[in-house]
Amino acid sequence: MNIYKTQVELKEAITLQSPSKLGFVPTMGALHDGHLSLVEKAIEENELCVVSIFVNPTQFDNLNDLKKYPRTIKKDADLLKTLSDQILIYAPNAEDLYGAKIKSSTFKFGPIAKEMEGAYRLGHFDGVGTVVSLLFDAVQPTAAYFGEKDFQQLQIIKKLVEIKEYNIRIVGCDIIRETNGLARSSRNTRLSKVQFDEAALLYKTLQEVKQKWQSSSILDLNGFVKNTFEKHHLLDLEYFVIANEATLKTAIRKRNTNTYRAFIVVTAGEVRLIDTLSLGKG
Ligand code: PAJ
Repeated sequence: MNIYKTQVELKEAITLQSPSKLGFVPTMGALHDGHLSLVEKAIEENELCVVSIFVNPTQFDNLNDLKKYPRTIKKDADLLKTLSDQILIYAPNAEDLYGAKIKSSTFKFGPIAKEMEGAYRLGHFDGVGTVVSLLFDAVQPTAAYFGEKDFQQLQIIKKLVEIKEYNIRIVGCDIIRETNGLARSSRNTRLSKVQFDEAALLYKTLQEVKQKWQSSSILDLNGFVKNTFEKHHLLDLEYFVIANEATLKTAIRKRNTNTYRAFIVVTAGEVRLIDTLSLGKG
């Protein structure tokens, strides 16, 4: 497997193949089927595929979460090899990517960055924007693949491409789930068996919200979700929001011309879990 620690080596390897279509999947590692589905798509649609594995310090607002983030590079490389042995893995240290100053730039992402994750994780999207633009500069892909699990992040990346005028096609990919419905996440390995089982409630609740969507008000749905989690002592609801899918603005009343999406964040002990589901027209 080709693992590159530096941009210089990576660029050499890419230049050697000079692909007309280069697909890129940025990750923080601890790879699972969710990541692999992105990589499969990138392989399918391109001549060459680069996967980056880098736990980006500037996007964590919680030091403990950064410290505990699983790092499993050898296993990750083995998993990628099951898809193809032609994948180029870029696994730099922070200095190779950032230079001497490991610091976020600030971006004018506008209102989409102020909602939900932007409000709850201060500086998070500036950190994501910084690392993704450094990675885009290093890899110079023709297409880059992101999961809809982090729907707001996907919108931020589209905005980043607009701001920095990158000529990169951004591809959104479906959420891959565990058999109990929980969205696959690198953080799921930190859940106990009981927490893992109970965490099925996130997706179950989102599906119930979707079922009730046509016949209920947003106020009632917010109340329904709040009640559901209040009864639950292992899972703490951080937020549940129904938002306009295009603007990500929190919705209070439905309009039948708009499309909406539900977003949920729950903590199970120290582990933060995120999920989302499209609800369709109002
Ligand atoms: P990470 O959490 O490792 O996720 C890498 C990519 O995999 C993201 O685009 C994410 O949305 C996608 N992904 C994660 N779980 C998924 C699932 N269950 N189904 C489908 N896709 C899934 O997101 C990041 O890393 C970082 O913020 C990054 C973009 C790499 C910048 O540091």
